[in-house]
Amino acid sequence: MIILKSKREIEIMREGGSILYNILSDLLKEVKEGVESSYLNILAEELMENYNAKPAFKGYRGYPYSICVSINDEVIHGFPIKEKVFKEGDVVSIDIGIIYKGYYTDMAYSVPVGEVDDEKRKLLETGEKILFQGISEATIGNRIGNISNTIETNALKNGYSVVKEFIGHGVGKKLHEEPEVPNFGSKDNGPILKEGMVIAIEPMICMGKGDVYVANDGWTVKTKDGKISVHFEHTVVITNNGPSILTLPGKQNER
Ligand code: MF3
Ligand code: CO
Repeated sequence: MIILKSKREIEIMREGGSILYNILSDLLKEVKEGVESSYLNILAEELMENYNAKPAFKGYRGYPYSICVSINDEVIHGFPIKEKVFKEGDVVSIDIGIIYKGYYTDMAYSVPVGEVDDEKRKLLETGEKILFQGISEATIGNRIGNISNTIETNALKNGYSVVKEFIGHGVGKKLHEEPEVPNFGSKDNGPILKEGMVIAIEPMICMGKGDVYVANDGWTVKTKDGKISVHFEHTVVITNNGPSILTLPGKQNER
């Protein structure tokens, strides 16, 4: 069942979303050569506490940290541990979720460490663009498949692939609600979008093939071909005026 959110619930999620945006922005500023990814987890927990928000991921199905930090061929669910130190030229994805006043919001972004080559820069730029192309399809009367198909088509058009094993999702009083939001498939698939639906759209775009496996730590999802992958995610509400991104700073996320 897809749970539609009321105006009041959406306002709370908008507040949570702007807090999440602020926290993730602060974390992304610390993605620099020589920084241990464990530092970002500590910083994230401090920032969440300052905003009266709780980590959504810690303890979720036993996940041990408050954020995911995935480097290069790590696609998602990477552990933020001190053994993982950022190097010049790395591509770093940070995924973070919070619970604020009882509601979850979810967001992820990929950034370069220092200077990266043109190939990586293009993957980062295109990945972000593909997220927004997907979001633009989140309009009343469209199907989830319109979002999925746009993401996949644009990835393939640029010579990239999408990960199929992990997908976006509804979000609200739980981190994962219906509907499923795949990053591939036909336009005719999935539920019709209605006002008040809130979904996390999260393309995972790969330079090589989209085939992945779970590493020995039981969590980190990596590309089989060892090629680089990026991950961009926003929490979005479907409104009468089209898609409205909840995970943006204060004023900007009103629509
Ligand atoms: N953005 C991811 C998702 O929506 C985060 C889940 S990570 C976990 O599925 F640690 F919480 F599992
Ligand atoms: Co998500």
